[in-house]
Amino acid sequence: MTRYRDLHRRSIDNPEAFWREEARRIHWHTPFGTVLDRSKPPFARWFVGGRTNLCHNAVDRHLAERAQQNALIYVSTETGIERHYTYAELHGEINRMAAVMRSLGVKRGDVVLIYLPMIPEALFAMLACARLGAIHSVVFGGFAAPNLAARIEDAKPMLIVTADAGARGGKVVDYTPLVDEALARARHKTPHVLLIDRQLAPARLNAPYLVAYEPLREQFFDVHVPCEWLESNEPSYVLYTSGTTGKPKGVQRDVGGYAVALAVSMEYIFEGKAGDTMFTASDIGWVVGHSYIVYAPLIAGLTTVMYEGTPIRPDGGIWWRLVEQHKINLMFAAPTALRVLKKQDPALMKAADLSSLRTLFLAGEPLDEPTAAWITRALNKPVIDNYWQTESGWPMLAIPRGIEALPTKLGSPGVPSVGYSLTVRNELTGEPCAVGEKGVLTLDYPLPPGCMSTVWRDDKRFVDTYWSSVPNHQVYSTFDWGVQDEDGYVTILGRTDDVINVAGHRLGTREIEEALSSHAAVAEVAVVGVTDPVKGQVAMAFVVLRGAQGEGDPSERARLAAELAMTVDRNFGSIARPARVVMVSMLPKTRSGKLLRRAIAALAEGRDPGDLPTIEDPAALQLVRDALGDGGQN
Ligand code: PRX
Repeated sequence: MTRYRDLHRRSIDNPEAFWREEARRIHWHTPFGTVLDRSKPPFARWFVGGRTNLCHNAVDRHLAERAQQNALIYVSTETGIERHYTYAELHGEINRMAAVMRSLGVKRGDVVLIYLPMIPEALFAMLACARLGAIHSVVFGGFAAPNLAARIEDAKPMLIVTADAGARGGKVVDYTPLVDEALARARHKTPHVLLIDRQLAPARLNAPYLVAYEPLREQFFDVHVPCEWLESNEPSYVLYTSGTTGKPKGVQRDVGGYAVALAVSMEYIFEGKAGDTMFTASDIGWVVGHSYIVYAPLIAGLTTVMYEGTPIRPDGGIWWRLVEQHKINLMFAAPTALRVLKKQDPALMKAADLSSLRTLFLAGEPLDEPTAAWITRALNKPVIDNYWQTESGWPMLAIPRGIEALPTKLGSPGVPSVGYSLTVRNELTGEPCAVGEKGVLTLDYPLPPGCMSTVWRDDKRFVDTYWSSVPNHQVYSTFDWGVQDEDGYVTILGRTDDVINVAGHRLGTREIEEALSSHAAVAEVAVVGVTDPVKGQVAMAFVVLRGAQGEGDPSERARLAAELAMTVDRNFGSIARPARVVMVSMLPKTRSGKLLRRAIAALAEGRDPGDLPTIEDPAALQLVRDALGDGGQN
């Protein structure tokens, strides 16, 4: 372990020297002066004074050597469309998109909200923003109107880029009515909405604010838009993520630090080389999509594969055939997808020539041992679990194969990545835990390049949320439990807060509760995550109804439960739809009125909730047990 240990130690003992060296991986229009500004902890500013641009590093910089290499391979099994773009063609499309945005008034520092399905224009729009120095905020296409409205309200975009529709599993989802509703709900008035018309749903161009992209693209076909040279610490994007409260946090990222960190991760963790092909099966609405569909592969000169569709349509062999057809070298997915694929006919995998594939990366949720063992055997290639968060932007734990091919250990995503000073700490004292002892995973100041710089427009929330929850020490909390072994390998043991992870999607139980509370029949609600063999976790809702609604009549209760599940669809998005809505007459609470979510989750999983000295009325536990066991379900 010496090579890894030495490099990691160097990155922690002298981050300035380490990152000064690593920063050479990207192009700087103006060199930076100070490597790290530590004057205002816990804020860290990397590569101060350096000027650079993410789009230049991802695209323009490669034109000299790889103009004719594919930059993007786009495959949609929803529409049957496949398109390839060389670096030269990608450059052209980004310039067109940037020229269109500029014609609508977008300039450096403006926010552009991107609400798009998995289409090439989503990647063009992100990189066009980077080119102009505008800040993109991508909102996952599966989110419903009220969720979108909340993000419009917080991000205050000057432009929204959307499409007529998305498609998933053969179902077309109209986007324009959702955008209409979100705009009507938000107090912030967005001046323009740019519409990419895929001709999947009826065009709604009669809406007065919609601007059609295609005619403008034609008009600006040959326009070249220069890259804005941004100071390294200017914001590149804001990506909303869930936490303990009902209000999502805008994770703000910088420019220079992000570019350097991604380039470092591509070599040390992903072993991706210029000319390789990488398929990251995520969505641009999540951080994995930002970092490993869009920015990292392009910064490192790879070909990135962008896929619209599910892993099992037209059949469960589609991903393996993509590997064969496009000679994919690196693949990155969520464990859930592998659990789905594990149930498919093994012949589908065997039929494909997977010889190009070097490594499979998995992240976003715990990788269970049976799935890890199955896929490692089936592929006979390294399977690399890696642990990180929207906030970090790149893996915090992994096997750094590009430094040293350390052995993998089932159940652990590996060891801390370079730059991450990680400690498992006791949640009551804040002191470091002993080897093998469970505690909260924390990071010491400074966070390495690439990590969030702050919460969008809310420095105080950044400090209060992330840097103030561990007693006696100002350290960053991941809000994950973990345990470290004698070799430094960490195992993740779940969240310390109210975040759940459904099929690799991070959701806040408070947000789902708010969606349910909007229904007139609901008096009180508790949402908890419950273990699921495929999705990892699913949401389960426990509802106390107002008055006597639904009482005694099982069919009325079932109807109401279905209606409540639909309320979540409408207010949040179908990914958060509870697997079960259970009606109860009372919820277990503490004497001070706090919901005992962990006790409810234990009951839902058939476990003993343990000692609950602060419970107000222990009878509530039996009521929940009874409701779970009888017709209180749907
Ligand atoms: O609880 C951890 C879990 O997902 C959370 C972060 O989710 P998100 O912000 O969506 O970022 C995903 C980036 C890959 C973490 O706090 N998590 C992520 N990766 C793993 C994981 N849990 C266990 N093992 C992992 N490899």
